[in-house]
Amino acid sequence: MTPADPAGLVLRDMSREDVRAVVRIEVDRHPVDAWSSTAFHEALDRPDRYVCLVTSTGPDESRDPYDRGAGVAAYGVISLAGGTADLDNLTVREDHQRQGIGRRLLAGLLEAAARRGAHEVLLEVRHDNVAAIALYAADRFVEISRRNDYYAPGLDAIIMRRSLDATHG
Ligand SMILES: CC(C)(COP(=O)(O)OP(=O)(O)OC[C@H]1O[C@@H](n2cnc3c(N)ncnc32)[C@H](O)[C@@H]1OP(=O)(O)O)[C@@H](O)C(=O)NCCC(=O)NCCS
Repeated sequence: MTPADPAGLVLRDMSREDVRAVVRIEVDRHPVDAWSSTAFHEALDRPDRYVCLVTSTGPDESRDPYDRGAGVAAYGVISLAGGTADLDNLTVREDHQRQGIGRRLLAGLLEAAARRGAHEVLLEVRHDNVAAIALYAADRFVEISRRNDYYAPGLDAIIMRRSLDATHG
């Protein structure tokens, strides 16, 4: 577990007990294409392929199964294949936005990907997602292509890439 700077939160591996809270945030932040609980559990089933992290107020110690993971403020998933990592999910709870949590979580995911041998990271983001694009651009991601009407007519996907250098690892 790595201490995280913003607001005393910690960055740690996602646990199965976190999934309920993660999905609550997921449905709120991605109403159209939210990952299901099954999708998160499938990622947790494949630690060889996926890195799943959460930013939370601490280790989850709640005795109430419905309350577990209540401290989750953000989460992210990266998948690894053949030296390339894909950023599959990066989400911050609405009431925790703009506190540096997304930036710290992204850095943690990139560090994990580099440790696991990835030399580049790809991601896909909707062209009108100003916050995410600004975050990625500030972290040296550059647009490499655009897929018109990918999400719906008029809603393009931007594909961004960055390399992972010796500063990660
Ligand atoms: C995108 C998202 C992860 C950013 O997380 P966050 O914790 O709010 O971002 P941070 O506070 O770490 O911001 C880091 C930098 O990103 C940029 N940024 C973040 N939010 C921004 C916004 N609303 N407008 C413009 N720039 C923004 C800024 O450069 C910011 O640095 P600064 O605060 O020093 O100016 C968050 O808004 C989110 O979860 N959105 C919904 C889910 C989503 O769209 N995920 C990405 C899918 S590809």
